[in-house]
This record gives sequence, C-alpha cells and structure tokens, in this order.
Amino acid sequence: MPVVVLIGCQWGDEGKGKVVDFFARKAEVVARFQGGNNAGHTLVVSGEQVILHLVPSGILHPGKLCIIGNGVVIDPEVLLEEIEALRAKGHLNDDSRLKISDRAHLILPVHKAVDLASENKKGASKIGTTGRGIGPSYSDKASRSGLRFGLLKNPDLLKNNLKKVIEEKNQYLTKVLKAEPMDPEKIIKKFITLSKKLAGYSENTGLLLHQLIKEGKKVLFEGAQGTMLDMDHGTYPFVTSSNTVSAAAATGSGIGPKLIDRIIGISKAYTTRVGGGPFPTELKDELGEKLRERGGEYGSTTGRPRRCGWIDLVQLKYAVRLNSLTDLVVTKLDVLSGIDQIKVCVGYQYQGELLNDFPAEIEILDALEPVYKEVKGWKEDLSGAKEFNELPFAARDYLKFIQDELAVPLLAVSVGKDREQIIPLGEPFQ
Ligand code: GDP
Ligand code: IMO
Ligand code: MG
Repeated sequence: MPVVVLIGCQWGDEGKGKVVDFFARKAEVVARFQGGNNAGHTLVVSGEQVILHLVPSGILHPGKLCIIGNGVVIDPEVLLEEIEALRAKGHLNDDSRLKISDRAHLILPVHKAVDLASENKKGASKIGTTGRGIGPSYSDKASRSGLRFGLLKNPDLLKNNLKKVIEEKNQYLTKVLKAEPMDPEKIIKKFITLSKKLAGYSENTGLLLHQLIKEGKKVLFEGAQGTMLDMDHGTYPFVTSSNTVSAAAATGSGIGPKLIDRIIGISKAYTTRVGGGPFPTELKDELGEKLRERGGEYGSTTGRPRRCGWIDLVQLKYAVRLNSLTDLVVTKLDVLSGIDQIKVCVGYQYQGELLNDFPAEIEILDALEPVYKEVKGWKEDLSGAKEFNELPFAARDYLKFIQDELAVPLLAVSVGKDREQIIPLGEPFQ
C-alpha cells in the first residue's frame, strides 16, 4: 500500500498537519497537491510548535522528500520565508529534500490585492477568505493567464509576463474594484530577487512522483482545507478555489488515480469552520465558546476565532462518499471531556421532511434543523491515553458510534496537540 492520500472531511483545520507529521515517519515522500498558503498546518513535536503553510508536513522528519505539486498555488515570498524559518530551526539543511512543481501557479501581490478588494466590495456577503490571493490566482490559472513556478528559471520571460499580468490586474483593481493600483517595477524587482533563491527547487514533480511510486516508495499526499470547502462539492460559494477532495491528489500531483491505494479522512470529534457560510450544527451559545477555548480554536493562518459546533454525520457521510474513504482518523477527542451529554447530528429536517443527502442550496442549509442523537459524555482527561482501551467507556462508545454510522474503520484517534498524543489503531502503509 505505498500511496496514501490524507484529506480533511469537514471545513478544514481537522488536524491534518499533526496526523501527516505522525504518519510521515513511515513514509518516504510527503506531497501537497492543492491549495496554497491559505492552509495553516500545525505540528507540535516535544512541545515545539511549527505552523506550515506551503511546505509539506513531513519536513520535520530528517531524510523525507517533500514535494509541492502542480495543483498548489505558491506565493514565492511566503515560500521563501517558510524555507528560511525552517532552515533557521535546523529542519531544512538539505535543499534537495524540497521539490516544487514547475507547473504550480504563482500568487502575485496583485492577486492578494484583488482578493482583499473583492471581499471589501462584497460587504456583508463576503466569503471571509484568508486574503492570501488564492481565488484570484486560481482564476488566472483557469482563464489561462497565470504564471507558473517554472518561469522563475527564466528571468527575462518572468519580467515580460509579470508586466503584462500586473498591468491587466491594475485595470481591474482601479476600474472595477475601485482600489489602488500596484507598482509593476517594484513587483518585478522583488520577483527577480526571489527567483534567484527559489528557481533551484523547480522540477517536473509529476514525473518524479511517478518514478518514485514505480520504485515502491511510500508516498503520503497531504490535503489542505477540507471537503466542505471544495469548490464543486462544498458549501458554494462559501468555499475555497480548489478541489479539496481526494481525487484532486491525482490531478494536483500528476499521477494517475489508479496509483492511489488508500484514502484517509480526518474529522474532529466536533466541527469547526472559519469564515462565512452555512454550518448546520453550529453552537452559538456558551458551549460553542467552551469548545473554542478548550480546543484553542483560532485560525492557524489568520488567527480568526473558529465557529464551533457538534459533529455532523450527514455531512461526514457525504465526505465518505465524495472521497472514497478507506480509513478514518478522529482528532481532538480530548476537547470533549467534561461535557455531560454530547450531541451527534444524524439527520437534517427541512420543511417537515427528512433530507437524505447534503443539500446544494445555501438557503436550505441555512434553514434546515439538525436532528440530534444524544450520547453520554465523559469527565476524564484523555490527553495521556496511549491505547484505545485506556479511553473511558463513553469515549469508546462515541467513537464506535461514529465509525459504525460512517461504515469506515478508525485508523487513529488523536488526544492532544503533540506528535505522540495519538492512539494508532492500524498502519497506513500496510
Ligand atoms: P490542519 O489545518 O488540519 O492541519 O489543522 P490546524 O493546525 O489548522 O488546526 C488544528 C489545531 O488543533 C492545531 O492547533 C493543532 O495543534 C491542534 N490539534 C491537533 N490535534 C489535536 C488533538 O487531538 N487535541 C488537541 N487538543 N489539539 C489538537
Ligand atoms: P487548512 O489547510 C480552514 C476558508 C477561509 C474562507 C474560505 C475561502 O489549514 O485546513 P480562501 O482564502 O481559500 O479563498 O478562503 O476557505 N479556508 C480555510 N478554512 N482551514 C483552511 O486550511 C482554510 N483555507 C481556506 O476561511 O472561509
Ligand atoms: Mg489549518
């Protein structure tokens, strides 16, 4: 089972970074395939915290190859900062451990400006983006005017292309969005400097991955965001601008889908979402506040408070189906300790009818009533549990109920931030 994809099943921040870092010890390659630095993946090793935005979460393990695939959008300034921060901590001493697809698209300062100005213009109906230029960069990719990472190897071509894109974006910024234009010369100068430092990472990573997989190397694909932020299947338009489902691991890395052996979905033991958009099981009361404080639910990228609510099995069943999940990992179980009665959403009621699938319409999602089953909670602190049998009965029953309802076996349960605070129930590469 050498090729494993790991994706978020909810609205992001499920703990993908932590779990990828844990499973990476058994992998030889870790690869990102979509999203950009809208992602914030937190790793805690022996109390030391690292938040990664672009570099794959295998980087803290010496000797593992980390790949940023063609489906990712890259802000070169952020990438360089991240590389330098990792180097300063002694984590990326060997540059050959990081390879970046020459086909990955670039995020330019004008994309960030357009992202922010579009959100401003939308007012109350804004998406609540991370403001990192993700949407505008993917828009340029789709409209075939984007610039790719491989261009950093050719400064003359880079200059000409940058000039064209910036001039065009300035028209849009000033005339449509009524925002300030950007200085092309300043951006070009900055990008030429960046290109000298980053061009060496550029590679045909699709070919490389294919060869590594043929050699039998164990590859772990690391999703960003979550299933409900997928631009086709999520709560559109309150989504990100990439496909976040498991199928994107193939298109976003350049391998064929038949090479994927196993697909792991991660869910928190409850639900969170950051930014706008529907959230059927949201708790707008003290309990929601309690989950936020206990779970440290503040965005890893923007610091915004995350909205919190109960686990939603209608939504998770949809994620199981969309991703062809073979395995489930539940994180942050420790956060639920001390809640007497835990609610689990088992259905949606809308205008007197029980819905049997996750609806497409925002209006329905906003109006529906979740149907809850109440289960018994537990009081014990779970953060030191090393084995499933060490968990209180009620916590085990909670996990078994989720596993049975979703009909996907549990591969691991996370009970704390640290790399070691996890109860493995199986091996991802077997
Ligand atoms: P990602 O985007 O999916 O990688 O998740 P984030 O890193 O944005 O958010 C997850 C947060 O929960 C981080 O602060 C993690 O350190 C933390 N975390 C991960 N797993 C656990 C867990 O099992 N228990 C607790 N208490 N915190 C966790
Ligand atoms: P990780 O990988 C949670 C959300 C934003 C916003 C919407 C669109 O850490 O789980 P964008 O900047 O992508 O155009 O914003 O998507 N969002 C995330 N929410 N975790 C993430 O990544 C996210 N990346 C984007 O808050 O609602
Ligand atoms: Mg995150």
